[in-house]
Amino acid sequence: MADQLSVLGFAGSLRQGSFNRAALRAAVELAPAGMTIETFDLAPIQPYNEDVKQQGFPPPERELRERIRAADALLIVTPEYNRGTPGLLKNAIDWASRPPDQPFDRKPAAVFGASPGAIGTAVAQYELRRYLGVLNALVLNQPSVMIGQAAAKFDEQGRLTDQPTRDFIGKLLVALAEWTRRCRT
Ligand code: FNR
Repeated sequence: MADQLSVLGFAGSLRQGSFNRAALRAAVELAPAGMTIETFDLAPIQPYNEDVKQQGFPPPERELRERIRAADALLIVTPEYNRGTPGLLKNAIDWASRPPDQPFDRKPAAVFGASPGAIGTAVAQYELRRYLGVLNALVLNQPSVMIGQAAAKFDEQGRLTDQPTRDFIGKLLVALAEWTRRCRT
């Protein structure tokens, strides 16, 4: 691994005006010096089917696995659906987690999320942490970034305009950089 940290980010929404996709775009802009965040769009990932997997990983699922493996760290942005993570996100992680050599093992990761509601995806983030833990990903504990009342924090172009929230995401990314370097030793 070079000194420059390569982070792979993905968000669990397909919606054009998604707050979580917009939050991921903000994170790309806010990456600190020494970190580059590339993104992966989960739209081409099909519903998990073991029969399909037995024939080999299809190209989008294979690409997701390879990009997770190649990244120094992950940044996962989750909406909250019914106090859990959306099926889209769980399904993509299920695909990527299948053997051999599941790529989450010992992979540093940070999670955050945005919701129009009050608790800013807190429950979904804990569910995401739980199953990333099962996969032995090394999930950063703090700071936790839960963007509540999201409709007031993004403009109509999907730009994150709320400065305190931009600052929180910036702090999360700095902590992820430190965490990723610590996890190497
Ligand atoms: C939601 N929403 C929602 N919000 C929340 O804070 N807690 C929840 O449990 C739920 N549950 C829920 C279920 C389903 C099926 C939908 C479609 C929506 C609202 C949700 O936060 C809102 O639609 C966000 O805008 C979704 O994220 P994106 O698409 O903006 O990234």
